[in-house]
Parts: sequence; structure tokens; C-alpha cells
Amino acid sequence: DRQTNWNGTPLAKHNEFWLPTRFLRPILSTQKYFKAKDTDIILCTLPKSGTTWLKSLTFCIVTRNIYTIDQSPLLTSNPHTIVPFFESNVYSEQENPDLEHIPSPRIFSTHIPFNILPNSIRESQCKVIYICRNPLDQFISFRHFILSNKEKDVEPLSMDEAFNMFCQGIDMFGPFWDHVLGYWNAHLNDPQKMLFLKYEDLKEDITLNIKKIAEFLGLPFSLEEENQGKIEEISRFCSNESLSNMEVNKTGMLLGQTKNSSYFRKGEVGDWTNYLTSTMAERMKKLMESKLEGSGLMFKTYN
Ligand code: A3P
Repeated sequence: DRQTNWNGTPLAKHNEFWLPTRFLRPILSTQKYFKAKDTDIILCTLPKSGTTWLKSLTFCIVTRNIYTIDQSPLLTSNPHTIVPFFESNVYSEQENPDLEHIPSPRIFSTHIPFNILPNSIRESQCKVIYICRNPLDQFISFRHFILSNKEKDVEPLSMDEAFNMFCQGIDMFGPFWDHVLGYWNAHLNDPQKMLFLKYEDLKEDITLNIKKIAEFLGLPFSLEEENQGKIEEISRFCSNESLSNMEVNKTGMLLGQTKNSSYFRKGEVGDWTNYLTSTMAERMKKLMESKLEGSGLMFKTYN
């Protein structure tokens, strides 16, 4: 099965998911060659769900005894350079790159759906963190991201048409609900292995969620660290405002294709209300209720 996303990206159906055809080969290489170590940390997301935020937070939490904030590598490299994607970075040029030399704990990320992850991730003791976001904001954020990196000769479909495709599940790494449910069910099966986060919850209480991530990774903050304000420091440093104002994130391109700056925009919950009608929201609400029924998973912001 082949399709074209609303922005002209060719998609191919693979194990029930719409994958960008340019990532098929790297995804298959990831499946075939990636050998997870017990100390690895894998960050999994759909695009535009808080990937950049989660990468920055996880990196800061894990390396807090190596770098002080004013020496952080995040000051000089985009979060996606520090925590590379399997499909668009690690396996994009070489089929089987040498990853053994990367110091532990290695942190990688991916948009690959749970059922297509390499077996070694499931079989090893490595930790997986998933973050998702309500579908309406994810859809709008993705539209902005694509249009801000748009090549001039591609004429994207209208908002209405794009939304219609999204509701049919035709979307990069979609259907949205199947991606989220794959990781949700995996989290229910083994909560020690997989942490499941929501963008909206991080917006509501970042301190709590930084603690959660640290505890999940077996690196809880000591009382002394808490008293020193370590959690607040990481929270401030990794905020949308702070990261987006760093010189490295204001200019330059990632992998020669994507503007570093395009990973940062408003960073708000409910921005979809500025673009989508209540009828569209109602349609999505019903759709999600039917797709997520009985799973115990829910998204809130539809009005
Ligand atoms: P908006 O387009 O709604 O502003 P991803 O990192 O998965 O590509 O998602 C990008 C979205 O997350 C964008 O949402 C962006 O503004 C927001 N974002 C990026 N960095 C963030 C941060 N440090 N804190 C909160 N939101 C952030």
C-alpha cells in the first residue's frame, strides 16, 4: 500500500503503519542490527509530541553529575544531535554503524511503532520512555513544522483535507491511535520497562515528571539535590523558552534538511483552537473514544 501525506511525503504501509518511504530502509536496519544494552535509554514518540523536550530533560537528568548546567552540551548542540533518531540519523547513512563506542548510558530516540521495534529493545533490560500528546495539538504542531521547512515546489493540501487524512489514519508513523496504543499496552504489561508520559501532564507539573523520569531510570534525586534546587534548574534549562533562545537552536540546520529552530514554537496546550473548528474537534473526540475504548487511555483537550 502506498499513499502520499498531505504535504507530499510518500508513505508506505508496513505492519499496519504508514511509514515515510525514505525511512523504510533505516527502520529495517534498526530492526535488524540494533543491539540494545541493558543500560540503554530509548525515547519513543510520534513527531511533535514533546520529543525535543523529553530528549533535553532525559539528557540533563542522566548527565547531571557529569556536566553543570553552564557546561551543558545542549548549549552548543541541538537536542536531536545529542539524542539521535534511529531512522533519520543513526541508521540513515550506514546500514550497520558501530554504536559500541558510545559511552553508556546511550540515549537514542525513534518514531518507530512499538510492534516494529528491534527485538533486542524488548528483550534487554533497557528502559523505554514514550511521550504522547493530544491528537489535535499534535496535528497542528506537525502542520506548522512541515510548512516551516517546506520546499518551495510542494503545494500542501488544505487544512480540511489534511485533517480528513489524519482522521483516516493516513499520517506519518500513524494511525495516531495505533501508535499510542502500542506503547500504552506495552507500558501496562511492564511498567518497569516502559514509562508512558503525556505532554499535557508535563506542562501541568514538570517537577513531578522530572522526578518520575529520574526514578524510572533508577536515578532518583537525593534530598540534597532537591534542596539545592537541581530539579528546578533542569526544568528551567529545558523549558521551551530557554532552549529556543539558545543560539544553537535559533540558527542552522539539522542533517542539512530541518531548521533547528523549527523544533520550537509555542509549546502550549490547546493551540488547535486557533485553527480547527469545534466540528472537527468533535469528530476527533468521537474517533478517539472509539479507538481507545476499553484501553484505559484518554486524552482530554477537545473543547
Ligand atoms: P508546538 O508546535 O505546539 O509549539 P517535537 O519536539 O516532538 O518535535 O514537538 C515539537 C512541539 O513541542 C512544538 O509544539 C514545540 O513548540 C514544543 N516544544 C519543543 N521544545 C519544548 C520544550 N522544551 N518545552 C515544551 N514544549 C516544547
